[in-house]
Amino acid sequence: MTKIIVVINQKGGVGKSTLAFHLAHAAAEGKSANGATKKNNRVLCIDLDSQANFSQYLTGDLDICNVTTGGVGDLLEGLALNPHVTSHDGIDLLHGHANLDQFDGNVEIEDRGYSPTMREYLRSLDYDVIIIDTPPAVGFRHMAPLCWADLALIPMEPVMSSIVGFQNVLSAISDVIAPINPALKWVGVINRANMRVKSHREKDEFVRSEYGDPILETLSTRTSVSDAMEEEPAQPVWLRKSAPKALREQWHRFCKKVISN
Ligand SMILES: Nc1ncnc2c1ncn2[C@@H]1O[C@H](COP(=O)(O)OP(=O)(O)OP(=O)(O)O)[C@@H](O)[C@H]1O
Ligand SMILES: [Mg+2]
Repeated sequence: MTKIIVVINQKGGVGKSTLAFHLAHAAAEGKSANGATKKNNRVLCIDLDSQANFSQYLTGDLDICNVTTGGVGDLLEGLALNPHVTSHDGIDLLHGHANLDQFDGNVEIEDRGYSPTMREYLRSLDYDVIIIDTPPAVGFRHMAPLCWADLALIPMEPVMSSIVGFQNVLSAISDVIAPINPALKWVGVINRANMRVKSHREKDEFVRSEYGDPILETLSTRTSVSDAMEEEPAQPVWLRKSAPKALREQWHRFCKKVISN
C-alpha cells in the first residue's frame, strides 16, 4: 500500500525541503525481516513549490525551476506522468518549476486536485512511499496535498511566527480537511533550534506541553545539515562521515519514525 507523506508549513525556511529530502532517503531504505537494510523501496518525490528547492536537492540541477514542462504540472493537469529517475537509489521525482503559480485558481485543476480521484490515482502508482514538499504559502498547492496524504509532517522553528504557521495547518486539517480526508494523521518537529537561546527553550517547552506526543523531535541548527544539503550531490546528513555520530543517528531515527508513523 502506497504511503503518502506531505511536509507542510506556510511559514518559510522551517526546513520543509530539507526534511522532505531526508524522508525520501529514509523511505527508500528497505528492511528485511530481521531489520537489516535490503533492497530499496520505490519512492516518488513530488515538489509543489515553484522555488523547486526539493527538486534542486534531488537532481543537483539549479536550473530545474526553469524547466516549465513536465514534472508536477503533468500531475495537476491530469496528464501521463514521466518522473525523473534521480541518481539517488530508488527515488524518482516530479519536479517543481517557476510556472506552478499558473495552476492556482484554475477551477478545473483545483477540482481535480481536491477530488478523491487524485488521492486514489497517487495510491495506484507503482511506489511504496510518496513524499510531497509544499510551498511556503497558503493556497491550492498547500491545501490539496493534505487531501491526498496519510500523514502530514509539520516542521516549525521555535519562534512564534513559525508556531502560528503550525497551528494554522492544524486548523486547516480539523476545519477543512477532516471531512474530505478523515484518516489524515499529523506529526510535528521543531527544527533549527538553538537550545542555548532562552526563547527557543521556552517555545520548545510550550509546543511540547501543548501538543504532546505528536511532536516527535527537536532538531538543532547544525552546519553539518546545511553542508550536507550543499554537497553535490546533496546527501542525507547520516551519510556524511564528518558529521557527529549522535546527529547522524538522530536524523536517521527521526526520519524512520516519521515513515513508520
Ligand atoms: N537543522 C538544520 N540545521 C542547519 N540548517 C538547516 C536545518 N534545517 C534546515 N536548514 C537549512 O535552512 C535553510 C532552509 O531550509 P529549507 O529550504 O529546507 O526550508 P523550507 O521550509 O523548505 O523553506 P521554504 O519555505 O522557502 O521552502 C536551508 O539552507 C537548509 O539547509
Ligand atoms: Mg522549501
